[in-house]
Amino acid sequence: MSVSARFVLRVIVACLMGTCVCYAGSHPVRVEQNSNCLECHADHATGDHVHPAVTMGCTSCHSIDNREDATYVVLKQTKGVACFDCHDPAAFLYPHLPYASGMCTRCHNPHVSANPRLLRAKVNELCLSCHLRTKESVSSRYMPTIELTANNSMGHPYLRHPVSGSHDALNGGEMSCISCHQAHGGMQLHLLKAAAEIPEDALNHDTETKDMCRQCHLRMWGLEGAPLKKKHKKDH
Ligand code: HEC
Ligand code: HEC
Ligand code: HEC
Ligand code: HEC
Ligand code: HEC
Ligand code: HEC
Ligand code: HEC
Repeated sequence: MSVSARFVLRVIVACLMGTCVCYAGSHPVRVEQNSNCLECHADHATGDHVHPAVTMGCTSCHSIDNREDATYVVLKQTKGVACFDCHDPAAFLYPHLPYASGMCTRCHNPHVSANPRLLRAKVNELCLSCHLRTKESVSSRYMPTIELTANNSMGHPYLRHPVSGSHDALNGGEMSCISCHQAHGGMQLHLLKAAAEIPEDALNHDTETKDMCRQCHLRMWGLEGAPLKKKHKKDH
C-alpha cells in the first residue's frame, strides 16, 4: 500500500471509530452564556474524578449560540483540538493513532469519571475494546490485535504471561496494559515504555541489561540493585 493510500485508510478508520461524529441538535431549553448549567447537569460536575476544566466552568469548552428559533450549545473547537487549548500536544516517534488523530474522548470522559485519569473504563477494558482478537477482528488489516485467555487476563506478550490480576512491581498497583505500553505514544517500537526484546533467556537474571522485562522481574524477585552473580562462581 502506498503512503497516501495508507493515510486515507487511516482517516476513514478514524471516522469509523467516531472522530467525525459531532452532536448537532438544538438545546432543549433556552440558556444564556452565564446560566447555571449545573441546575440541570449536576451529573457532569460530580463524581469520583472531576476534570479541573469543568471546575473552571462549562463555557471553557462549550459556547452558547442563541438564535431566534433555538439555542445551540456547541463545542468551541472540534473535539480533539479543544483539549489542546490547555494540554500541550506531545510529539512521539511512535504515536498511537487514536491520540494523534485527536480521539481524546474515545478514552477520556471530558467531564467526570469513576476511573482515574478520567478514563471511560478500566485501562484493560478500554484497550481491549479495540485490541482484543475476536472472530470479527482477527482479519482486520489496520488493527493489531492480541490473543488472551483466562478472562482476558493472560497470554501476552508470552504464553501464560499475566496482563492483569498481578502486582506491578515497577509502578505499584495492578498490572495492566500500561505497565508496559504508553497510551499516547512513545519512543520505542510498539509504544513500549522501555526497550524489550523478548530474548531466548528472558528470565535468566545473570544477563546484564536495562531491558524492561528484566527490570520488572528482578524487582519481583527482590534482586533489583543486587550485584549480578556469575553462574559458574556459585560453588559453595
Ligand atoms: C433548565 C435545564 C437546563 C439548563 C439550565 C442547561 N441545560 Fe443543557 N440540557 C438540558 C436537557 C434537558 C438536555 C437534553 C438531555 C441531556 O442531554 O441531558 C440538555 C442537553 C445539553 C447538551 C447536549 C445536547 C446539545 O444541545 O448539544 C449540552 C452540550 C448541554 N446541555 C450543555 C449545557 C450548558 C453548557 C449549559 C449552561 C450554559 C446548560 N446545558 C444548561 C437542560 C438544561
Ligand atoms: C474540557 C472541555 C469540556 C468542559 C469543561 C465541559 N464539556 Fe461538556 N462536552 C465536552 C466534549 C468534548 C463533549 C462531546 C463528548 C463526546 O461526544 O464524546 C461534551 C458533551 C457534553 C454533553 C452531551 C454529551 C454528554 O456527555 O452528556 C453535555 C450535556 C455537556 N457536555 C455538558 C457540560 C456541562 C454542563 C459542563 C459544565 C459542568 C461541561 N459540559 C463542561 C467538553 C467539555
Ligand atoms: C480549560 C482548560 C482545559 C481544557 C480545554 C482541557 N483540560 Fe484537561 N485538564 C485541565 C487542567 C487544569 C488539568 C489539571 C492539571 C493537569 O493535569 O494538567 C487537567 C487534567 C486532565 C486530565 C488528568 C486528570 C487526572 O485525574 O489526572 C485528563 C485526562 C484531561 N485533563 C483530559 C482532557 C481532555 C480529554 C480534554 C479535551 C476534551 C481536556 N482535558 C481539555 C484543563 C483543561
Ligand atoms: C487510547 C486511549 C487514549 C487516548 C486516545 C488518549 N488518552 Fe490520554 N491517557 C490515556 C491513559 C491510559 C492515561 C493514563 C496514563 C498513565 O497513567 O500512565 C492517559 C493520561 C492522560 C493525561 C494525564 C497526564 C498524562 O499525560 O499522563 C492527560 C492530560 C491526557 N491523557 C490527555 C489526553 C488528550 C488531550 C488526548 C487527545 C489528544 C488523549 N489523552 C488521548 C489514554 C488515552
Ligand atoms: C479506538 C481504538 C483504540 C483504542 C481504545 C486503543 N487503541 Fe491501540 N491502536 C489503535 C489503532 C487503530 C492502532 C494502529 C495504528 C497504526 O496502524 O499505526 C493502534 C496501535 C497500538 C499499538 C502499536 C502496535 C504496534 O505493533 O506498533 C499498541 C501497542 C497499542 N495500540 C496499545 C494500546 C493500549 C495499551 C491501549 C489502551 C491504553 C490502546 N492501544 C487503546 C486503536 C486503539
Ligand atoms: C508485560 C508487558 C506487556 C503487557 C502487560 C502488555 N503488553 Fe502488549 N506488547 C508487549 C511487548 C513486549 C510487545 C511486542 C511483542 C513482540 O515484539 O512480538 C507488545 C505488543 C503489543 C501489540 C502489537 C501486537 C502486534 O501484533 O503488532 C499490541 C496491540 C499490544 N501489545 C496491546 C496490548 C494490550 C491491549 C495490553 C493489555 C491487555 C498489553 N498489550 C499488555 C508487552 C506487554
Ligand atoms: C510490570 C512487570 C512485568 C514486566 C514488565 C514483564 N513481566 Fe513477565 N511476569 C510478570 C509477572 C507478575 C509474572 C507472573 C509471575 C508469577 O505469577 O509468578 C510474569 C511472568 C513471566 C513469565 C512466566 C510465564 C509462565 O510461563 O508462567 C515469563 C516467561 C515472562 N514473564 C516473560 C516476560 C518478558 C519476555 C517480558 C518483556 C517483554 C516480561 N515478562 C515483562 C511481570 C512482568
